[in-house]
Amino acid sequence: MDNLIEIRDLSFWYDPEKGDTPVIKDINLSIGKGEFVAIIGPNGCGKSTLIRHLNGLLIPSKGEVLVNGFDTRQVENLPNIRRQVGMVFQNPDTQLFASVVEEDVAFGVENLCLASSEIRDRVDKALSQVGMCEYKASPPHRLSGGQKQKVAIAGILAIQPECIVLDEPTSMLDPKGKKEVMEAVWALNTSRQITVVYVTHDMTEVLHCHRLVVLAGGEIVFCGKPLDFFADPELLNIAGLQAPPIIELVNGLVAGGLELPRNICSPEELVEAICQ
Ligand SMILES: Nc1ncnc2c1ncn2[C@@H]1O[C@H](COP(=O)(O)OP(=O)(O)O)[C@@H](O)[C@H]1O
Ligand SMILES: [Mg+2]
Repeated sequence: MDNLIEIRDLSFWYDPEKGDTPVIKDINLSIGKGEFVAIIGPNGCGKSTLIRHLNGLLIPSKGEVLVNGFDTRQVENLPNIRRQVGMVFQNPDTQLFASVVEEDVAFGVENLCLASSEIRDRVDKALSQVGMCEYKASPPHRLSGGQKQKVAIAGILAIQPECIVLDEPTSMLDPKGKKEVMEAVWALNTSRQITVVYVTHDMTEVLHCHRLVVLAGGEIVFCGKPLDFFADPELLNIAGLQAPPIIELVNGLVAGGLELPRNICSPEELVEAICQ
């Protein structure tokens, strides 16, 4: 797999003059084209700081970040890097500002100097990719949280990036909104091969990702398959995290003597395993 993003020896200080402990410490991480990488870790461990380096919102204090080989430290690379890596944030209300959905989605593309027919095509396509075509003419404030977040994602998609980075996009949503957004993001990855970097506090959301990165105190303490992380009590303890309920349930049933495969990560899979 080709790498889209290379993070090499990255350290970052918000205020280098205050104290000598960096917020991000010597991080090395490559993200492959088409990969779905989830990032978890306790509050304040540096998740947002790390991912803001992926499109040059933050510039390394030490080390480097390359996007398709383009170094984020070089200002002239930033427009290109930001076309390749789009960022979606936690609060959908702070990301939408137009009075109609389609205007909102067009906002980012309008800076690309495209013909207006091309802009319209891209907006329609982006809305269809997140299943929001029928809300094209709606005012964003009438939408549910999940729908708003999908509109924010469509605004990024219209720029046609190779990668979308999402910083806790579901943390302010109800369960229905969470599911809607998660399904939309997965569809972008599986049917459009868009690379996804997904920061979350919801352990259930990361169970199916290709690779899980766990941060603690600004360092990577685990990088690998989600089930390998959740099966390791020592690592969970170091990271101050808890396995998702379904994994805890399986662990409990196994501890109680039931023979079950250890790759179960949904209630449906558990029911099937028990019925066998
Ligand atoms: N703009 C900022 N200025 C100074 N310190 C910051 C700033 N943003 C975050 N920090 C600090 O950097 C650390 C990591 O924060 P952050 O990357 O937001 O963590 P996370 O996203 O994992 O909760 C925290 O100690 C936080 O207080
Ligand atoms: Mg954060």
